[in-house]
Amino acid sequence: MKITIASDHAGYDLRQKVIAHLLEAGHEVIDGGATSADVPFNYVEAGQKVAEDVLSGKADRGIAICGTGIGISIVVNKYKGIRCGLCTNEYMARMSRQHNDANVLAFGARVVGQALAFAMVDDFLSESFAGERHQVRVNDIKRQEERLFK
Ligand code: RB5
Repeated sequence: MKITIASDHAGYDLRQKVIAHLLEAGHEVIDGGATSADVPFNYVEAGQKVAEDVLSGKADRGIAICGTGIGISIVVNKYKGIRCGLCTNEYMARMSRQHNDANVLAFGARVVGQALAFAMVDDFLSESFAGERHQVRVNDIKRQEERLFK
């Protein structure tokens, strides 16, 4: 799968580890965001990169990391067509796919450790959308986007 991943400075170190994990699993990676943990990089710009890569079709899925995951998840969820789950455990990562058909996973590098981040990423990339009643709800989200996004 082709994965776009970006972070601010707070997510830089964990992002490097997640990238190595993705490459080892055979995924293609588009890397963006902070170039160092020591130089401040705005999570807004990092989130924009992830959302735009997914919406343009450059990537199949996105991974967005900042300190808490909150700021960057807000940014990507402002895009029409992005469904980002801000997750703190594997159950949430699995459900974000099964129930919400999430196309972006967000988490906080100051919230989750490496092992949990890897587990969430693996679940997010392997789980499928369950459809049926959940499709009805995702369709409702899409209708809401049509109504509210100008
Ligand atoms: C950066 O210090 C921090 O504000 C950012 O990484 C994130 O947690 C924002 O939501």
